[in-house]
Amino acid sequence: MTLSVCNTMQGTNRFFFRACCFLLLWPTAEIFAQTVDLDVPFVTTPQSVSEAMLTIAAVGKQDFLIDLGSGDGRIVILAAKKFGARGLGVEIDPQLVAASRTNAKQAGVANRSEFRTQDLFKTDLTRASVITMYLLPDVNIALRPKLLALKPGTRIVSHDWDMGDWLPDAELRVPAPEKKLGLDRTSRVMLWTVPAVVDGRWCSRAHPALTLAFTQKYQRADGEVTGLHAFKFAARLNGAHLLATGAGEAHLGGSRLVFNAASPLAGTWRRATGACAGK
Ligand SMILES: C[S@@+](CC[C@H](N)C(=O)[O-])C[C@H]1O[C@@H](n2cnc3c(N)ncnc32)[C@H](O)[C@@H]1O
Repeated sequence: MTLSVCNTMQGTNRFFFRACCFLLLWPTAEIFAQTVDLDVPFVTTPQSVSEAMLTIAAVGKQDFLIDLGSGDGRIVILAAKKFGARGLGVEIDPQLVAASRTNAKQAGVANRSEFRTQDLFKTDLTRASVITMYLLPDVNIALRPKLLALKPGTRIVSHDWDMGDWLPDAELRVPAPEKKLGLDRTSRVMLWTVPAVVDGRWCSRAHPALTLAFTQKYQRADGEVTGLHAFKFAARLNGAHLLATGAGEAHLGGSRLVFNAASPLAGTWRRATGACAGK
């Protein structure tokens, strides 16, 4: 409204009114900048910890990394500069996004990094092969269903905060003397790999007298074979790779589960739509 009145003025009057409008609106812009709705405050990850996060996730040239709540852009910039990855930083504070773009230019990685003023909860994560986060426990938990739905094998690294009962696949303690909080001045770095979904029943033409069933919780699964040779085993998923204690290894691709030749379950299993042939 104020701007539209300004725009209808002519000549010197118009200049005068534009100056007034600017002065009127400037404090509003300031207040807006100060009242960005943050789910997490801006605290930076120390350099040693950023390096450990990218190292534990084995970030490389082939990766596309998304940093959720990217602050001044340091993790995306380091991933591009030292690890050769491409990346996107998602940050709700526009001033930090502007600073990140400047920092990326100064680091010579503006062509391999992008920064968007965006709410991390509304961000499409499907393009990422690696996701990094320095958020808060409740924010991690709120993000968990969306992270678990990503492509199997996507790596997720979190600084300090875990993912509740989804236990990490690997964990490090990193000295962080520059941290302002915490008695021991160390950081926790945790890695998760999104597991494929093996839960449910499976049938195989190579084993018509057997039915295979899994009960899965995150990257762990309990396997049970019923029929002619009944047995139980524990299994662990690393993305789409399944390692079954005493039952060999398998690769899971969509509705096919293929056990290696050394396994007692060797061959291809398909998701059961009804009872298996031998039942
Ligand atoms: C603890 S800082 C981490 C900064 C950076 N990732 C690092 O590790 O140095 C969290 C960042 O998340 C941003 N943030 C908070 N809520 C957000 C939201 N809903 N969407 C996007 N960014 C958000 C904050 O502005 C802050 O910069």
